[in-house]
Amino acid sequence: MAFPQSFLEELIARSDIVDVVGSYVPLTSKGGSYWACCPFHSEKTPSFHVLSDKQIYYCFGCKRGGGVINFIMEEENLSFPDAVRFLAKRAGMEVPEEDGDREESRRRMRLLDLNRDAARFFYQTLQGPEGRAVQDYLDRRKITRATAVKFGMGASADSWDALLTAMTKKGYSKSELLSAGLVVQGKNGRLYDKFRSRLMLPVIDVRGDVVAFGGRVLDKSEPKYMNSPETPVYSKRKTLYGLNLAKKSKRPNIILCEGNLDIVTLHQAGFDNAVASMGTALTTEQTRLLSRYTKELVLCYDNDNAGKIATERALQILNNSEFTVRVLQLPRRLQDGESVKQDADDFIKYQGAAAFEQLLSGSGSGVEFRMTQVAGKYDLSDDRARIAYCGEISELLAGLAGAAERDVYTKRAAEKAGIDAAAMALEVQRAQKRLTGKARRAQLRKDLNPAAELQPRERSLRFENLASARAEEGVLRLFLLDDSLFPPKPPLRTEEFSCPLYGKVFELLWALRAEGREVSLTALAGVLEPEEMSFLSGAMQNPEVPEKREQALRDYIEKIHAEYQKKTSSSDRLAILTEKNRKNGPGDGRKAP
Ligand code: UTP
Ligand code: MN
Repeated sequence: MAFPQSFLEELIARSDIVDVVGSYVPLTSKGGSYWACCPFHSEKTPSFHVLSDKQIYYCFGCKRGGGVINFIMEEENLSFPDAVRFLAKRAGMEVPEEDGDREESRRRMRLLDLNRDAARFFYQTLQGPEGRAVQDYLDRRKITRATAVKFGMGASADSWDALLTAMTKKGYSKSELLSAGLVVQGKNGRLYDKFRSRLMLPVIDVRGDVVAFGGRVLDKSEPKYMNSPETPVYSKRKTLYGLNLAKKSKRPNIILCEGNLDIVTLHQAGFDNAVASMGTALTTEQTRLLSRYTKELVLCYDNDNAGKIATERALQILNNSEFTVRVLQLPRRLQDGESVKQDADDFIKYQGAAAFEQLLSGSGSGVEFRMTQVAGKYDLSDDRARIAYCGEISELLAGLAGAAERDVYTKRAAEKAGIDAAAMALEVQRAQKRLTGKARRAQLRKDLNPAAELQPRERSLRFENLASARAEEGVLRLFLLDDSLFPPKPPLRTEEFSCPLYGKVFELLWALRAEGREVSLTALAGVLEPEEMSFLSGAMQNPEVPEKREQALRDYIEKIHAEYQKKTSSSDRLAILTEKNRKNGPGDGRKAP
């Protein structure tokens, strides 16, 4: 993992953050630094700040930040060593690789090659006699040849070792096949193909690499889908099926479904903006990925209970996000006089693309979805139920931020319950008062305890003394800004820092200094976690008065000394007191002298 420090230094010197960031997003120069709309989350006004002097970036919106290497890690979705290699290529530098790194990166490349070769093998199987059953299945499901090709579909044969044999012949080792999750080891130690007699759907990431497979059975047996396990190249939480295609769509939003074949059918029907979370709940990693491609999401989960719960959970994850969220509610379908569930695939099959387009354009906001859910709980022909409905719905309406939005939905709720609009509005006002009362009390608690409010969320970054922490930030800021400020010897001991992270960074900067190295935050990208880098970049945003740096540094150091003194002497006092108590014995009743 460790690149030689001198190499990193030159790489950083040759990768100016303004150039690098500027090649991804247009930067506007303002007062010595640069601003842009954040490439990591969608926004309309720029809150992404690039500081040329400190060579760092920080987004005041999503609070991500770091040096040029962190930027590439985030933007290109790369690990630290891969981001270094990426930048080296850009700067035309050769990377001095250590054997271990080269090995790891080689292994990943091999797994991706293996997945691609396996996908090709499944594809060829589908074209031959052994793919007949799968081809019949595709025909039954009305999946055209063009669609099958677009999704790179294939077939796994009715065999225990067709893939194993073919890939071994191509030179892949048993351990590679195992770690790609394509073969499994039986109790007797023998290896066999994981996917057999299934329709094979390769999962392709946004870079176009085959990272995993989903395999569907052709009959009613279980499990219906078999998926690749987590591997060095596949993380389920960070992947969305179909995003490799949907990212190129001209449609203004992205439709989120549950199932892989919903995506296939939707794309075939012209909705090339559909992606699937493959049967799991939407994750924050997936929303981050989506935010690169769209500002509007349409949730289109199955219309059964599980789908409704998934919708509610997705709405919670997307609450307060930059996305506009709509919910496309598929109607239930009548079959033999019974109402049955359906997913997007069923709906397209029975109602056609035009009907889906209509549902899409008429799909309501998340509020409407929630209102329908609440209404569904009450029998509105019963007076008492109607009153209870008003109580619950007014809580929901009171939480809406916009006055116009509140008004529109309040009227609709009144209509639904068959009560006077003015009465409903009154209920909502009351609920609002309760809500603001609650918020005020919460605010008061915060005001009385400002330290808690300013604490960063990550536990490792906590500090116990705000006054000292501010001064610690100041010291680091000055050292990073101007290395002529370094005194001959460290002016502080690590334990004097109230924030462990600041203490650690102080130590790291001194180590660089002691080796006569360039002192910069960028170089720490390999040692610190991205969250720590983000936090540091945020703390480095405050400007420093240029003329009075020496004085400022002395003041900061003095403050840290003083706060540390206070803390240690008070803990000394505590120690003395407890010592006295012990001597006096318990329950002694006498006052300490
Ligand atoms: P569904 O059970 O809703 O299946 O699972 P589906 O997508 O409608 O599939 P078809 O139309 O019957 O072919 C939704 C998704 O959950 C995952 C799959 O990604 C599936 O597309 N799933 C489902 C599994 O991973 N394993 C299973 O056994 C079932
Ligand atoms: Mn389905």
